[in-house]
Amino acid sequence: MELFLTADDLAKSLRRDVGDGLAGSPKTLPPKWFYDERGSALFEDITRLGEYYPTRREREIIKARADEIAELTGATTLLELGAGSGEKTRLLLTALAGTLRSYVPVDVSGEFLGEAAAAIAADHPDIAVRPVVADYEQHLHLLPTGGRRLIAFLGGTIGNMPPAARIGFLGALRETMGPDDALLLGADLVKEEDRLVRAYDDASGVTAEFNKNVLRVINRELDADFDLDAFEHLSVWNPSDEWVEMRLRSLRDQTVRIGALDLTAEFAAGEEMRTEISAKFRRERMATELGAAGLRLAEFWTDEAGDFSLTLARPL
Ligand code: AVJ
Repeated sequence: MELFLTADDLAKSLRRDVGDGLAGSPKTLPPKWFYDERGSALFEDITRLGEYYPTRREREIIKARADEIAELTGATTLLELGAGSGEKTRLLLTALAGTLRSYVPVDVSGEFLGEAAAAIAADHPDIAVRPVVADYEQHLHLLPTGGRRLIAFLGGTIGNMPPAARIGFLGALRETMGPDDALLLGADLVKEEDRLVRAYDDASGVTAEFNKNVLRVINRELDADFDLDAFEHLSVWNPSDEWVEMRLRSLRDQTVRIGALDLTAEFAAGEEMRTEISAKFRRERMATELGAAGLRLAEFWTDEAGDFSLTLARPL
């Protein structure tokens, strides 16, 4: 396993993110820190909720288009940003079998990556599986190049980045791409507010647990004393930015101590801290943002219901 990011680097960036985020007004925390073992399991549960359509819809598109993707790209390497999302990865690997030589899953966490990579290697003995531990917002230029690469960034995770970061990320990715490389990008689409809000506030409360998990992570990693019962989960559609926000609202006036930062944070009753944005797209905006990054939208596929999108983009 190739390592561009150590546990120590991660610990440092958590401290910086929490220090900066709690100093801001409003307070924010980046969604990156939801995904410890418990948070990853909660996210898996989310993907099976009735209200949370993105995973199912994206799988539907990939199933319908995998052969076309193989034909259009002739990829020799599949480079996947974000932990190999199980079934979707398998569909792509199977469809690409004719040309594919290597599979490179990239994730910030080595723990999950090792297991996932071993399982895939066992099922695809002809493909070299080369997991890389890296942060795709920092280390794109270090990822393996050569051959015809298909870079997959699935699940709608691009929506976690605010617009400026998104364009920066796409531009940095474009810089690493050769003329025959392609980008496969999964993105959720704008739709009725009610469905969007419920996708992030399910009736069984799994998403609320997932949201509060970031407080658990900070308690454990930074010796903090967040009281999870003193915060409530919110899902809010922001129509001007076209993104869903997850927030945690303080239920009372309270002081939280973050031991490792030697910091205290005051929360007023009703104060809301933003923990995630999940941007929703339209075809037009996807094409514009790709263009700004030096990429051309070559294909834009949706599921039957028009809920989710899969874009194939190429260097301009
Ligand atoms: C994994 C980032 C795509 O934004 O929909 C699910 C994370 N947050 N429910 C999303 C998430 C709350 C998810 N992504």
